[in-house]
Amino acid sequence: MTVTIVGSQLGDEGKGGIVDVLGDSADVVVRYQGGDNAGHTVVHDGEEYKLSLVPSGAIRGKVNVLGNGCVVNPRTLFSEIDALRERGVDPDVRVARRAHVIFPYHRLLDGIEEDRKSEDDNEVGTTGRGIGPTYEDKAARRGLRIADLTDPDTLRERLAYVLPQKRALVEDVFGLDIGSLDDPDALSVDALHEEYAEYGRRLAEEGMLVDSGDFLADRMAEGEDLMFEGAQGTLIDIDHGNYPFVTSSNPTAGGAATGSGLGPGVVGDGEIVGVVKGYLTRVGSGPMPTELGGVPGDTPGYDGDPSNPETESEELAHQIREEGGEYGTVTGRPRRVGWLDMPMLRHAARASGFTGLAVNHVDTLAGLDELNVGHAYEVDGEERLTMPATTEEWGQCEAQYRTFEGWPDVDWADVATEGYDALPENARTYLEYVADELDAPVYAVGVGPAREETVVVERP
Ligand code: IMP
Repeated sequence: MTVTIVGSQLGDEGKGGIVDVLGDSADVVVRYQGGDNAGHTVVHDGEEYKLSLVPSGAIRGKVNVLGNGCVVNPRTLFSEIDALRERGVDPDVRVARRAHVIFPYHRLLDGIEEDRKSEDDNEVGTTGRGIGPTYEDKAARRGLRIADLTDPDTLRERLAYVLPQKRALVEDVFGLDIGSLDDPDALSVDALHEEYAEYGRRLAEEGMLVDSGDFLADRMAEGEDLMFEGAQGTLIDIDHGNYPFVTSSNPTAGGAATGSGLGPGVVGDGEIVGVVKGYLTRVGSGPMPTELGGVPGDTPGYDGDPSNPETESEELAHQIREEGGEYGTVTGRPRRVGWLDMPMLRHAARASGFTGLAVNHVDTLAGLDELNVGHAYEVDGEERLTMPATTEEWGQCEAQYRTFEGWPDVDWADVATEGYDALPENARTYLEYVADELDAPVYAVGVGPAREETVVVERP
């Protein structure tokens, strides 16, 4: 049995909490794409753990696999593992030999390219973790895989091939002086060889290396259950997302097969749960047809103070942002807020084949008199039920709304204990509309940030 968890919007849907609740009975948690661009916070026995690469299952004693579709920064990996060990948690993390390695030059080039793009306001707003440049090298067949770290001769040979290209890029294309960089060793064969051969030795010595497809197939043959944990969200998927404002991997469910080494049938025979936030948030620029109000500081005259909003829509955005704690975990930047966008969700449900849904932040919307949902888009006088392919066309879409009656604030802890029928009636109407439109049942409803504040309707 496998369960795949996929973000259906722009990331930040609260996937971590759902993995935590629904992954309870999984034996192995597998990440299939991305790297240390995915921040998640896990609260366990009153302790808070912030992780970006190690899957959250590590805290709960699961076997955790970083699949071949991941890009792995060994510095981050070992600093997270060491920090967990210092706190008395000994995580069981396995790393696919076929996963690609993020080197310091990837981070360096991520930063340089973003700076260059920002001169024309075209930056992607990446996490700066070197994700794009690493996948770029993988596709260009000049990347290094995790297994290469364990073979010092191959490691040196590959670094000696790739580094002159990176140095030329920095100096000749971007016109920078390598000597004046913060970390000139990021481009040194000897320095990288010494540090990364040591990571290879440690990976081997600690028994962390696996051929992920074989390893997972063996665990399944022994009757174990797998959970595939997607990072990021559908709208930042490199194929199905809002290109070029995307990450460089496939968070959608197809990625679970290519990124783990198991067949698509294995993923498709299991459950695929789309995680939906009850409204929409977005960090940074790009279209958002259902956007409410503005972001404090970005809208002239609007400072985020609810006693001073220019419009009702700004006041609503402010209220939802405060209630939902919609501020970037790392940067503290206020997130843009909008109503649920159904064309986006239909696109996500089709691209991944959702068999069920987990809807989060239903408590955040409590207390509103009424709420809107972007049911369709109108573009050039025509109705559209799913998203157009280009960011430019998406920017021209106008949301066509359906209005729902609001629900009161209630004791959400009681609701979580009593179950789905204890949800306010109007909240159930809202959830049932979403389930009908996406043709997938609601398996879980998030009514608060804590693990026990999730109404589990059905355990896939
Ligand atoms: P990258 O993955 O660092 O290359 O960033 C590419 C885009 O994906 C940027 O818009 C990031 O903000 C976004 N992104 C990457 N990881 C996450 C995440 O975990 N949550 C939300 N957005 C993310």
